[in-house]
Amino acid sequence: MPNTVLIGSQWGDEGKGKIIDVLTAQADLIVRYQGGSNAGHTVIAEGEKRVLRLVPSGILHEGKTCVIGNGVVMNPLDLIEEIEMLRKTGIECRGRLFISTRAHMVMLYHRALDRADEAARPEGKKIGTTGRGIGPAYAAKVSRSGLRCGDMLLPEFPDLVREQVEETNRKLAILNAAPLDAEEMVRTYIEAAERLRPYIVDTIPLIHAADRAGKSILLEGAQGTMLDIDFGTYPFVTSSNPTSGGACVGSGLSPRRIDRVVGVIKAYTTRVGEGPFPTEDFGEIGRTLAERGHEFGAVTGRPRRCGWFDAVVARYAQMVNGVDFWALTKLDVMDTLPEIKICVAYELDGKRIEDMPASAGQLARCKPIYETMPGWLEETSHITDLAQLPLKAKAYVERLIQLSGGRLGILSIGPARESTLRVGI
Ligand code: GDP
Ligand code: IMO
Ligand code: MG
Repeated sequence: MPNTVLIGSQWGDEGKGKIIDVLTAQADLIVRYQGGSNAGHTVIAEGEKRVLRLVPSGILHEGKTCVIGNGVVMNPLDLIEEIEMLRKTGIECRGRLFISTRAHMVMLYHRALDRADEAARPEGKKIGTTGRGIGPAYAAKVSRSGLRCGDMLLPEFPDLVREQVEETNRKLAILNAAPLDAEEMVRTYIEAAERLRPYIVDTIPLIHAADRAGKSILLEGAQGTMLDIDFGTYPFVTSSNPTSGGACVGSGLSPRRIDRVVGVIKAYTTRVGEGPFPTEDFGEIGRTLAERGHEFGAVTGRPRRCGWFDAVVARYAQMVNGVDFWALTKLDVMDTLPEIKICVAYELDGKRIEDMPASAGQLARCKPIYETMPGWLEETSHITDLAQLPLKAKAYVERLIQLSGGRLGILSIGPARESTLRVGI
């Protein structure tokens, strides 16, 4: 398989975990390149469901190597928990999982800051973060005060943690939040460092050696295009670059070595947390999609907001990521709908617009312009070939692809590995 970047095309939770798992069969090395344990990637294989937050979703395939790249913000305590969860279900990460020495760490004090910052924001300014400390960890990285995974290997690591906690306590005091116990934290992280030491390596030579040897690299994005710090609905975004450009800076693989981009996209739209969402449906349709699609956060359990497919979002994602192939997921969720709408453009201040506006304020004022198609009212989850798809479902899929640009590569009609039709890839 050619070197492939896989990205989320909407506001996250598109089914990336499932599609990565499917594509891993043909890959050798799977690399997470951004985000942290704000991600929740569900993989259902051999009847067992696992939710991965930091470990690449390729881990379930025996013999594949997984990398947590330099662009990820890695929470050592969450990772230890995840490695244990995998071990209990028969999957050993040791010798197969490698963490970049350059990846920054998310510490308990980042979580405290994340939560205190959210609590201090007035209504309307809250982001609705996952509370996992992602923003503060990336802020520390950019302000050149963060700790990196490689620091865990240094003898002065305890002093570095102590310094950071003391600095954080000064910030927490300004936010009227309780201070943290520096010594307790130092003990926690010394123990974590001992456990993670064997996994921490310089992953750049590892990735390049694999590439030179002709191995196939699959780069796993977390979150989605509309949550990108640059391209998303700022400030209602995450703090990293989930888009395909992020794959290079977050892994150290050159753009010249990326062969193709796969965009995962749901047959409808969801969003968790705050921020504009033009096609959000507050009525019966929203409830049906949420129920049939089990639209609750894989990690936080928060209900996801639901609505119709937004082709303006899809076209934008196609443009900024250079999507070659779409992996269209959750078509089966729409099986019971008699009528289906697609947002083809927006109306902004009385004018029709086809392109994504640059500001969240403008997007919040956009009204979707819909096109309506008949529903197929037939179950699709059992089909094994595109030819078996009800004609109306086929027409819907074709229209989505036509409006979005690019080509269909994968159609997903259920959560399990088997419920996947490979079309063009
Ligand atoms: P990710 O964050 O992009 O990996 O997505 P999540 O795992 O957070 O959410 C996707 C949810 O949809 C999970 O519960 C998956 O098991 C489920 N899922 C994925 N593909 C399909 C599909 O084609 N049909 C249905 N019904 N569920 C799916
Ligand atoms: P996966 O990889 C959906 C959202 C949060 C919030 C915003 C910022 O499973 O698709 P953060 O904690 O990152 O500072 O929160 O981003 N968010 C996600 N929404 N799926 C995710 O990951 C998300 N990760 C963050 O809800 O609106
Ligand atoms: Mg998710």
